[in-house]
Amino acid sequence: MASPIAPWKTGGDAYHQMVGTLYDYWACWTTCAIADLSIADHLAGESLTAAEVAARAGSAPETTLRLMRAGVAIGLLTEQADGRFGSTPLLDTLRTDDPRSLRPLVLSQMGSWLPWDQLAIGIREGSTRSTKAFGGKTIFDYLAQHPDEAERFSAGMSGMTAVWGPAIADAIDTTGVQCAVDVGGAKGSLLQLLQHKNPALSGIVFDRPNVVEHAEAEIARNGFADRTRTVGGSFFESVPTGDLLLLKFILHDWSDEECVKILQKCRDAIAHGGRIAIVDDHVDNGDSTCRTDGYGHAHGVHGQGAHDRGVRRVVRRCRLETHRRAQDRHPADRDRTPSRRGRLARLSARSAGRP
Ligand SMILES: C[S@@+](CC[C@H](N)C(=O)[O-])C[C@H]1O[C@@H](n2cnc3c(N)ncnc32)[C@H](O)[C@@H]1O
Repeated sequence: MASPIAPWKTGGDAYHQMVGTLYDYWACWTTCAIADLSIADHLAGESLTAAEVAARAGSAPETTLRLMRAGVAIGLLTEQADGRFGSTPLLDTLRTDDPRSLRPLVLSQMGSWLPWDQLAIGIREGSTRSTKAFGGKTIFDYLAQHPDEAERFSAGMSGMTAVWGPAIADAIDTTGVQCAVDVGGAKGSLLQLLQHKNPALSGIVFDRPNVVEHAEAEIARNGFADRTRTVGGSFFESVPTGDLLLLKFILHDWSDEECVKILQKCRDAIAHGGRIAIVDDHVDNGDSTCRTDGYGHAHGVHGQGAHDRGVRRVVRRCRLETHRRAQDRHPADRDRTPSRRGRLARLSARSAGRP
């Protein structure tokens, strides 16, 4: 029988809702365990009892039954009168045979719980949680030493691109572009969307060396190897030259000063007449500043800064001109109040002349 998703979210007073907020935390971990046990794959196209799922997942039947009932409560599963469980469209997003699978994203995000534990400490100290959690290093340094987690992180990023990428790709005009550089591109999923739309577009996926290793296989698998190359490096050192530089979900990870450094390297890399497309999330706080901390406040987890800053402000500091800005409502944010509304900000910048 189907149940409403997270029924504790509706009804009740503020006290009920606060308890419900904690249930959301449980719901995330329930989802993570269900993803871990690949229950979406086991239930693909068939209904099974918890014991049958447990046999396939290699888990204990009794605890698997409890987990699956919790999955029913949060709308991932249905339970039938005969004791069999079925999947829902929500669970199907975790199937490994779905090219848009969100399983890697769930596993990588929930796997990065350590920095959340440091949130209050970081806020008190004015430091960031990730650097404390990762012994003074960034999450990207940590991932470089943990290849399996790094691969999952990049795959998770591709999952996010699969959700929002088509709308982003629609907004980025690649007509006449010779070479697009996906800066910090992970597996290069945004570049591939653009290449899919523009068969003449060549590009470079630029990321840390340990990340581009994994990008190559994905690029080949998706049939873009003949017009894509990968370059490993650091955007604090230099960025490959191109006439369209893509910065998607990059700046929220860094402080203002670091953003300025990244953008300066990008400015140095823009071919004549080229531009930079910045895609990030922000909160519309009613003023004209394009803030990134809507997404960034979540990314205080991993980020070095993510405090109040304006993308346009740092862009201007790099002697880049904003010549177009577009905003899209985040599909998941339709019901939020305007002041809390997350949006994808697309900002296109051209060099305003070198200093
Ligand atoms: C939040 S992910 C965004 C990935 C991709 N742009 C997307 O939207 O799916 C940030 C990316 O920046 C990369 N990155 C971090 N530090 C970097 C550096 N110093 N140089 C190049 N890339 C870096 C990470 O490896 C990661 O792939």
